[in-house]
Amino acid sequence: MNTTITPILPTATTELYLGRDLLQGEIIPHLIKKWGHRAVLIADPIVAELYGTQLSTKWKAELIVLPKIGEAAKSRETKEWLEDQLFAGHCGRDTVLIALGGGAITDLVGFVASTYLRGIPLLLLPTTLLAIVDASLGGKTGIDTHHGKNLLGSYYPPKAIIADLNTLKSLPPTEWQNGLAEILKAALIANPALWTLCDKSWRSKLEQIVPLAIGVKIATIEQDPLEKGFRRILNFGHTVAHALEAVAGYQMAHGEAVAIGLIAESYLSMRMGLLGKGVFEEIVARIASSGFVLQLPWNYDRSKFLSALAYDKKTARGVLRFTLITSIGKVYDARSSVVNLEDHQSSPSPMHHSSAILMQYGSRHDASNLSHSEALQNSPNLTARRIYDARSSLVNSGGEYCSSVPHELVLDMIEWMENKLR
Ligand SMILES: NC(=O)c1ccc[n+]([C@@H]2O[C@H](COP(=O)([O-])OP(=O)(O)OC[C@H]3O[C@@H](n4cnc5c(N)ncnc54)[C@H](O)[C@@H]3O)[C@@H](O)[C@H]2O)c1
Ligand SMILES: [Zn+2]
Repeated sequence: MNTTITPILPTATTELYLGRDLLQGEIIPHLIKKWGHRAVLIADPIVAELYGTQLSTKWKAELIVLPKIGEAAKSRETKEWLEDQLFAGHCGRDTVLIALGGGAITDLVGFVASTYLRGIPLLLLPTTLLAIVDASLGGKTGIDTHHGKNLLGSYYPPKAIIADLNTLKSLPPTEWQNGLAEILKAALIANPALWTLCDKSWRSKLEQIVPLAIGVKIATIEQDPLEKGFRRILNFGHTVAHALEAVAGYQMAHGEAVAIGLIAESYLSMRMGLLGKGVFEEIVARIASSGFVLQLPWNYDRSKFLSALAYDKKTARGVLRFTLITSIGKVYDARSSVVNLEDHQSSPSPMHHSSAILMQYGSRHDASNLSHSEALQNSPNLTARRIYDARSSLVNSGGEYCSSVPHELVLDMIEWMENKLR
């Protein structure tokens, strides 16, 4: 299938291809010809061996195998190394860079493509579930430094994203879980139908699940391309997750940290009087039965965790802020209402009216994109329609999607985590 994501930056459009057997077909040769005269395929050693060597021959693309695997390749050193390889190969502006791999590789190659000769054409071929539903979408690129993760980067939308679900066949269990955690997040913030699909047999329903998760991410990108506020909803579960990862010295799988983060921040939503107890328990039960370990890192330490939480970029004047939910599929808009903690503590879904506001307000697409959206809506392609539906059901009402949380409730959440997850 082929659907066009509406502009990420005012001048840019990204084509999205999602399906099976795409890498074996004619799409990539067509895109190489469309955007340049020459193609360089970049992959880490694992993905190069699995797919890169064969595909580069097939596409007559030069293959560059990175010296490091996954996250370890997202560094200044590897960026410089890769740029030197491109210079040595006399790659000019007519060179199409093709990133084949997980989110680390799409981030690194995206960053290189954005600055090499002030920008050359980029194709992303995400090969992990997380990269397909999350990292490859949104035009953000970046690398890590000793000062922190993703601190250097750019906004640089690729010309196209080609996500071939067949590449997932070789994915190790941890990588499946990393993707599932992001899908569960997408479901919790925006799509109850997606939540329902994510039961024990979720892996046999990728054709339904992946378009819905993509639709959620695309909707947030389109409505908040430069991260003015709405994109914060994607942060659900991640304030806690990032702090846990920091405490664990990044030796914890992202999916494990996010799974705990989703539960912990749902707990906060409940304690803030926004989310019913029954719904919270359903969330815990679903995540607990989804194959996550759900254990705090062995070197967990409360004071380190608290200071890592305070380091979050949403923290304002020392007060911690979180994205919260009011039910499965709805984020809380802090501007919509003042919450009375006493009144709402145990009622099932007290803030339901605020969620309704979320659906009604806010401009969706500009006129030039409307006709395209309509075409998608009526498309005979089921995947396109699924993405369209998930995208349309999420509307930015211009609200405030992160809320200050009283310190005692944060401590309460921490106590809950320490009791249940150790
Ligand atoms: N740019 C964004 O908006 C954005 C959003 C979310 C995450 N990210 C970034 O994405 C990165 C995480 O991405 P990830 O989870 O894909 O991890 P990853 O890129 O580190 O890949 C994980 C591992 O899977 C291997 N692998 C990749 N594809 C495979 C396949 N098909 N079969 C077998 N093995 C395969 C890789 O070699 C690597 O060892 C992080 O660096 C994160 O910061 C970026
Ligand atoms: Zn994440």
